Amino acid sequence: MVRSELLGESTGHDWWHIHRVRSNALHIAVSEGGADLFVVEAAALLHDISDWKFNGGDDSASSRKAAEWLKSLQVDGETINAVCSAIDEVTFKGSGVKTVPGTLEGRIVQDADRLDAIGAIGIARAFAYGGKKDREIYNPEVKPSLHNSFDEYRKSKSHTINHFHEKLLLLRDLMNTDTGRRMAAGRHDFMVEYLGRFQKEWEGIL
Ligand code: ADP
Ligand code: NI
Repeated sequence: MVRSELLGESTGHDWWHIHRVRSNALHIAVSEGGADLFVVEAAALLHDISDWKFNGGDDSASSRKAAEWLKSLQVDGETINAVCSAIDEVTFKGSGVKTVPGTLEGRIVQDADRLDAIGAIGIARAFAYGGKKDREIYNPEVKPSLHNSFDEYRKSKSHTINHFHEKLLLLRDLMNTDTGRRMAAGRHDFMVEYLGRFQKEWEGIL
């Protein structure tokens, strides 16, 4: 169902994003231990099934759609609630907004989703998303701003290089699990290197 809904989506929230998040999430869950693997896998698969960024800003649409789907498959209510709370807690809401999920499964899926927002893949996804949303690649006259509420973050129309400073470079230090932190380190360093080169090329130094 997820594959057929999201295959071919062009902003980096496509089936292959979901596929990578599922692999990351299961890898983290197995290496950390103690998590319900069904909840982790279902939440990873369903976390972007109806993302707020593409449906008028409703940030609980994914979990509602996920609940309907799981109900139709006769999954028990307790499991559905666990999957839905993990989905609801995944999303980044601005650098000044604290969003640490209350369950281990939620923390794992959030780490898995964030890993796919950084590194080489994260760079590709950021520019794909920015293009789709009519954002400039870079504009040196517009400085980054730290958003203190989800609403402020949601309404921001800044260029994509700012998105690195407003979100992507902050994610490494926001990882919940040791496995996630280890995986984030190299991806973070690569983004820093990329941004350094971008700046040098912009200035014509390189
Ligand atoms: P989250 O739920 O935390 O937003 P998602 O997996 O739904 O996570 O998508 C996050 C990704 O969407 C970002 O990491 C980035 O690639 C892209 N994105 C979101 N907002 C922006 C933005 N303002 N500029 C560029 N890319 C963005
Ligand atoms: Ni996602």
